[in-house]
Amino acid sequence: MVSIESKGTQNKAGTKVLKYIEMLAQISQEDDKLTRLSLTEQHRQANALAGILMQSTGMEVRTDAIGNVIGRLEGTSDKRALLLGSHLDTVRDAGKFDGPLGVIAPIVCLELLKADGIALPFAVEIIGFCDEEGVRFPSTLLGSRALAGTLAPEVLEECDGKGISIAEALKAFGQDPAEIDTAKRNPSDFLGFVEVHIEQGPVLEGENLPVGLVTAISGAARYTVAVTGMAGHAGTVPMGLRKDALVAASECIIAIEQICLSLPDVVGTVGMIQSKPGAGNVIPGLVEFSLDLRSSKDTTRNDAEKQILGAINDIAKKRRVTIDTQKTYEAAGVNCDDWLSDQLGSAIEKSGYTLRSLPSGAGHDAMALADLTRIAMLFVRCAGGISHNPAESITVEDAEATVQVLRQLLTNFAADA
Ligand code: GLV
Ligand code: MN
Ligand code: MN
Repeated sequence: MVSIESKGTQNKAGTKVLKYIEMLAQISQEDDKLTRLSLTEQHRQANALAGILMQSTGMEVRTDAIGNVIGRLEGTSDKRALLLGSHLDTVRDAGKFDGPLGVIAPIVCLELLKADGIALPFAVEIIGFCDEEGVRFPSTLLGSRALAGTLAPEVLEECDGKGISIAEALKAFGQDPAEIDTAKRNPSDFLGFVEVHIEQGPVLEGENLPVGLVTAISGAARYTVAVTGMAGHAGTVPMGLRKDALVAASECIIAIEQICLSLPDVVGTVGMIQSKPGAGNVIPGLVEFSLDLRSSKDTTRNDAEKQILGAINDIAKKRRVTIDTQKTYEAAGVNCDDWLSDQLGSAIEKSGYTLRSLPSGAGHDAMALADLTRIAMLFVRCAGGISHNPAESITVEDAEATVQVLRQLLTNFAADA
């Protein structure tokens, strides 16, 4: 077994992690905040920076047909790769760690191994996935689904808010959408996938633990809801004769909240709403809103969906408006792999940390990768459990712990091989 020689050397690895993450955070579509949506110029720049960092560890770097940046370091005897990584896209006005930590921590870990002259028997691949947030397009997990071969070709026709399809965005990004199948990988290529991610919740902080082991990832579904009423003059149409699409949408949103409150273990969020024609003196005629529904139990999520669609139908009838609901994305909950999680759990313990297992309410690239290979996830404590918010942060000590656990995992694997 290879010992962790660099433990206790004043967080050198953690400092590097924070430095590289800060460099990535400078790449934004907006001057005063971090917004980096998938398949944009800024995403290309983030891929380029991650690629340069990967190359410095000795990796060969390429971009695949869906826009994932992939580094590969050959092993001394086994062609199969341990896959590490997370996403490089962000939400709007994002924190710096959601996604990038899972790309940067493995890079710094390989830098350490290289500096110490340690060659692994198996290959390592690090992937910066192209889209996990699903902010630009209605679908999500584009990069990881393409890798797993579960991305239906028709998804490429989905459009962003400006009417640009994923296929068009890919062309502008320099990729050929007709080649999308080439992003698909074989299960036999991999030993497994390990994703490092901030917890995005308060459990680890509450228990004063730097890292945790993820047991399962909640399933999720996304919908676009369009409410069509009748636009009209704000001064002349009596209240009782209106078909106000925004008031109908508001009633739907309250119903969604009530239903999700009434069921155990389900969360529903309306995060986007657009009212047209959008003038102060016009009754709204068309409203579109998003719905994000999640639960650790798929049956509970399905039950919530049924109740919500029923309530929306009743509201449409009562208010004499038309409401169309379209499901744009659905992913079942997944369990992390027992064997790979045991390996990661033992790396946590051998690194001197208490093993704390916990589920993930957030979605992750690992959910899609579960269709390709065994998955495991390492959660890292984040301040206040805050995420999807510029206040997201982790400490240099926890960044150090993350790299050391990864190093322990890789060297344990190497010792077993
Ligand atoms: C991604 O962060 C998601 O869970 O939606
Ligand atoms: Mn994420
Ligand atoms: Mn996120």
